[in-house]
Amino acid sequence: MLSNNRLRIEGGVPLRGRVCISGAKNAALVLIAASIMAKGETILDNVPYIEDVNVLIRILQEMGVKVHWNEDHSLSIQAPDDMIRVQASADLTRKLRASNLLLGSMLGRQAKVAISVPGGCDIGLRPMDLHIKGVQALGATVDIKHDSIFAERENSKGAPIYLDFPSVGATENIMMMAALTPGDSTIENAAKEPEIVNLASYLNAMGASIRGAGTDVIRITGVPELKAVRYSTIPDRIEAGTYMLAAAATGGEVVLENVIPQHVYPVIAKLREMGVVVEEQNPGELLVKTPGKLKPVDIKTMPYPGFPTDMQPQIAVLLGLSSGTSIVTEGIFENRFKYVDEMTKMGAHITVESSTAIIDGVQSYSGASLYAPDLRAGAALVMAALAANGISRIYNIHYIERGYEDLPDKIRSLGGEMVKVNDGAEDSDAMRRMMLKVI
Ligand code: EPU
Repeated sequence: MLSNNRLRIEGGVPLRGRVCISGAKNAALVLIAASIMAKGETILDNVPYIEDVNVLIRILQEMGVKVHWNEDHSLSIQAPDDMIRVQASADLTRKLRASNLLLGSMLGRQAKVAISVPGGCDIGLRPMDLHIKGVQALGATVDIKHDSIFAERENSKGAPIYLDFPSVGATENIMMMAALTPGDSTIENAAKEPEIVNLASYLNAMGASIRGAGTDVIRITGVPELKAVRYSTIPDRIEAGTYMLAAAATGGEVVLENVIPQHVYPVIAKLREMGVVVEEQNPGELLVKTPGKLKPVDIKTMPYPGFPTDMQPQIAVLLGLSSGTSIVTEGIFENRFKYVDEMTKMGAHITVESSTAIIDGVQSYSGASLYAPDLRAGAALVMAALAANGISRIYNIHYIERGYEDLPDKIRSLGGEMVKVNDGAEDSDAMRRMMLKVI
């Protein structure tokens, strides 16, 4: 049954104050997947309490892995020493693209794996050919039948692997399998995202031998086993970017805590070009404020350190409030403009031609009833609603809850007017209108 849960946002309040950025969704997911390769109990710090993490936890629990949250927000993970149940339930794996990361970590620790073809946000085709070619090069045999991937390895051996595209997930899967595969492996044209570096450092802390993460070539020498350690997830650069843009869109002044500024440089560079002030304050802190009218800029999304695809909908919302025409080109996923129809309801002028959006800035947005089409588009609609005149209601918020920890609380702590209204409950202005009718 479709949920009627929604966010009710009264726009037009400049966000002001300090906000602490959570651990990175996409780093936490792969660290959790990698933890099943360790002997003993792993503790991961700074893991965000979000739906995607909770789905992955449920998948692992179904597979017989012990996983629980601790009071200090850390996560304990302990896989059994013997073989893990090979197939996780299709219902859960289909909910989460990151369940594909169990391919590499399971093949690292044991000879047989079966996973359902993973799901996730509908933002493009999202094939797994590069993951599969990678594990095959390391000696796995792979068979795809009835929406499931069956993989087995026997006498696997390190190998050189060239990726046609620097896929984040494929780089992670190959790195995990190769960490426990005898011999030397290299990944050429590897992804360079900060989440890749976080994973490599984590695996090295567990006893792996991985060099070059963060560059185009990653070199891995297989080790016989990995031990459990305590390790921390990096801050979420996409959550940080979203708050930076929300501060700019509402004409506010916000200090972000717990950020690695270098990870958000591609976003900072574009914000500065638009006339937004971004200053590094104390270590791990960034101040964002908008002194005047925003300037239009052109942007193309690219693999890191290019401008992130996961910030494309949010920057489009900000450019929609600038003083001219901007062109945004999506270079990673083919289906990431699904927020445009919703933005049109708010008064935005955006036209899409193939992988390009042409954005003509408007003075302001107006509140509307909106449907989040996926996670990042949902976050962009929240930003637009915060900047808009009037009240907006955003539905399909399960998408947004996949990736943003405590969003309504964090926005309220910055002075924004946002509440989550649960199924069946009336929000306060609807209630007021009803009362007036009764009187
Ligand atoms: N691709 C292939 N074949 C493959 C793998 C990927 O053609 O075997 C293509 C994809 O279709 C896409 C491009 O390569 O066009 C990039 O995909 P990539 O594999 O790099 O993405 P991913 O690993 O599926 C991760 C993040 C995404 C983020 C992308 C790009 C996780 C769990 N997800 O996805 O995050 O957009 O990298 O940076 O790490 C999000 O957080 O909202 C999100 C979608």
